[in-house]
Order: sequence, then C-alpha cells, then structure tokens
Amino acid sequence: MVITLCHTDDIPEAGARGFNLPQGKLFAVKKRKNIFLYLNRCPHLGLPLEWEDNAFMDAEGLYIKCANHGAFFEPESGECIQGPCLGDSLWSIDYHLENGQILIDEAELPALPSPG
Ligand code: FES
Repeated sequence: MVITLCHTDDIPEAGARGFNLPQGKLFAVKKRKNIFLYLNRCPHLGLPLEWEDNAFMDAEGLYIKCANHGAFFEPESGECIQGPCLGDSLWSIDYHLENGQILIDEAELPALPSPG
C-alpha cells in the first residue's frame, strides 16, 4: 500500500514535520528544497526525537536535534555528529514524489516500533 505523507510545501524550509502512522513514527526535514525522511527513533535509546510537535531542528534550523540527550544529526545523511550516539545514524526511509506529494510504499518500511 502506498501512503501519502504530505505535500513538500507543507514542510517549512530548514524545518521538519512529524508523522504518526499506524505503522510507527516518521519525520521529514526540508533543507535547500530537498526532503529527507527518517524514522523518528533516536539511535541512542530508541526514543522519539522531538520535544514538541514538529520540533526536530535546532534553533538555527541547521541540524536535527534529539530532545532527550542533545544529540545532533546532519539533515542530509542522518549521521550523528555530536552526542551520545556519535557516528550512528538515523534510519533513512525511501520515498518518491508525485505532484509534490511525498509517498512511501508501506512494504518498504522497516519493522517499525509500535507508536507511543
Ligand atoms: S535518546 Fe536521543 S540522545 Fe539520547
């Protein structure tokens, strides 16, 4: 089954948006008009990253930040560049675009941890 997440215009530049699917939590980041999609699961303790809805970025909008213990991740690669999971990476999710809509194939999703 194909799942439509949102339109790319629904994500602010240097911002992010979270998605709570029945299959688990994801989030998308927009940087220089490119979209990067990840599992919302910190490689440190496996917790969701955001401190409130859609708040995945640091104050400058440069890096993805985990609210739990302050890890920083490169938006483009998902690699942790500072924090307790240094060198580990967020789990990237493949997507494709159709008329600006971000689509994922449910069959391509990893075995997601259950929401909540
Ligand atoms: S759970 Fe993300 S830094 Fe600890």
